Amino acid sequence: MDADTAGDDVTSMLFALKWPGIDLLAVTVAAGNVYLDQAVENTLYTVEIAGRSEVPVYAGADRPLMRELVTAHYVHGEDGVGNSDFPPAKKQPEAEHAVEAIVDHANRYAGQLEVIAQAPLTNIALALARDPDLPSKIKRLWIMGGANNFMGNVTPAAEFNFYVDPEAAHIVINAGFNTTLVPWDVCLKDGILYGDELRPIEEMHTTLSEFYLSVNRAAREFIRLEYDVDGISHPDAIMTAMVIDEAMITERGNWHVDVEYRSDLTAGYSVVDTLGVMQKGRAGRRVPGEGREPNADVVVRADKERFKQMLARVLAS
Ligand code: RIB
Ligand code: CA
Repeated sequence: MDADTAGDDVTSMLFALKWPGIDLLAVTVAAGNVYLDQAVENTLYTVEIAGRSEVPVYAGADRPLMRELVTAHYVHGEDGVGNSDFPPAKKQPEAEHAVEAIVDHANRYAGQLEVIAQAPLTNIALALARDPDLPSKIKRLWIMGGANNFMGNVTPAAEFNFYVDPEAAHIVINAGFNTTLVPWDVCLKDGILYGDELRPIEEMHTTLSEFYLSVNRAAREFIRLEYDVDGISHPDAIMTAMVIDEAMITERGNWHVDVEYRSDLTAGYSVVDTLGVMQKGRAGRRVPGEGREPNADVVVRADKERFKQMLARVLAS
């Protein structure tokens, strides 16, 4: 799992750490929601509170490939986890850099690894530079990012992970991985628990339910201020729920995806060619970029009820 650990990354990590049968081999960390050191600290604390301190955590890129880092403190709070003032984690990160760790694991477990990428794709792009054969070694790459012909959540064009490092997103989406993309619109449509839907979790009073409410507190406040509604969004966790149970995906399409990185106005925009108009020789038309064949399995809708059941099970554990 590659994360820029803030509230929703934490929730996703709890699925991977607590779900029976999921063998989370490593967490690699990139800057994004918060600065790298804070994201690493949030990750260490999460694996500890989940009782899984043996899972190694690796620090990675502290900035995007070619741009200044843009964080999301305005959403997640100064510490990225709801200004919860948690005590420092006892666990330390590994000495190996996250990029080396990704390459090492991909080679050691060639053909077996599923990578859950829920941060700006800086670490994955750097790992590709280190080992250009990575796509053939990684069984499946899950990416939370972009928006499928839908408003972004940072600019009208761009979702946060692709906005922060559009060059990395462009490199990774075109690298030939076996990619499943879980864009922002899926979260908005099927990945938010509103007001009353949160009551069962608020009445659970387990270590992990209280932790979940605490780490998502600032993001919940942001949603209330920005959208005048009470809710917690789960863009990363709904993807990990799909990794655990692919039946979570109720609608999908195999389309060409690419990411804009040269425009100020639309940097981070994910082109999703749902009509295949840029495919070779389509209807005899010659369009810019013709010959762009499908390169990603794009999730369109998910099973929200199943997600709620899975979330409750993780937090009750
Ligand atoms: O746009 C949502 C994505 O950006 C999520 O991964 C969230 O954690 C942030 O990284
Ligand atoms: Ca994230």
